[in-house]
Amino acid sequence: MSVDAAALQHAIERLRAASSICVLSGAGMSAESGIATFRDALSGLWARFDPAQLASPEGFRADPSLVWRWYAERRAAVRAAQPNAGHHALAAFAKRHPGRLTLVSQNVDDLHQRAGNVDTIRLHGDMLEDQWLDACPRAMSCDTAWAAPTVPPRCEACGNLVRPGVVWFGEALPFVALQAAEQAARSCQAMLVVGTSGVVWPAAGLAAQARRAGAFVIIVNPDASDIDGDAQLHLPDTAARLLPLLLDSL
Ligand code: APR
Repeated sequence: MSVDAAALQHAIERLRAASSICVLSGAGMSAESGIATFRDALSGLWARFDPAQLASPEGFRADPSLVWRWYAERRAAVRAAQPNAGHHALAAFAKRHPGRLTLVSQNVDDLHQRAGNVDTIRLHGDMLEDQWLDACPRAMSCDTAWAAPTVPPRCEACGNLVRPGVVWFGEALPFVALQAAEQAARSCQAMLVVGTSGVVWPAAGLAAQARRAGAFVIIVNPDASDIDGDAQLHLPDTAARLLPLLLDSL
């Protein structure tokens, strides 16, 4: 796949002129680090499952061990992965231009953070974090680290289960993170949308919010997405190839 040189130059000029840039990343951002994109995540033995079913409170309650094992495999893949050139280009830009870039991610891996974007706004949580499935019936503030090492870990006192610290289908996004993401989308002059299919809301609505507020919206994705209509420019190539070309000279 190659991107038209004029389109690339147009995107670079738009980013150069933007005093505030909002970046929205999705699973495609981590694909070149070897992390399966969300809708490709179900390969191999997981191929017979629906990701939306596994990544839901109902799916977890129906088969806690199955879902916990799916996340354990994904956690191991993330820990074995390294940030790619796209992650590093974003972190280097943020370091060169303090306060100019706001990074909003749908991803539950820690690759942006390990590359240096430690203040990434995490819309869907952190897969490497644990949390309790339910409120403690004894109103204790037990630490999930004390849970019995069963699959999934369980509180020995009340039976509460440990679950991954991610936002599941049917759950609300963290209010503060969503507010910050919407504020960044509405106030930026340019938005870079990298590696998302645009099928999951409210994250998928951020590009339209930026466009309505007057931002120049650029999509980096080798394929079409549900939000292509919100962008003025679609660069059909990958994050690790395009982000250094777009940002390193700025
Ligand atoms: N560079 C850029 N984009 C890529 C690359 C790459 N190397 N490889 C794949 N893509 C694109 C695909 O074309 C696709 O459009 O990344 C997108 C990945 O889409 P999804 O797998 O749907 O992931 P995402 O859009 O992040 O899903 C959103 O859905 O289920 C929830 O919580 C989950 O955060 C996830 C959300």
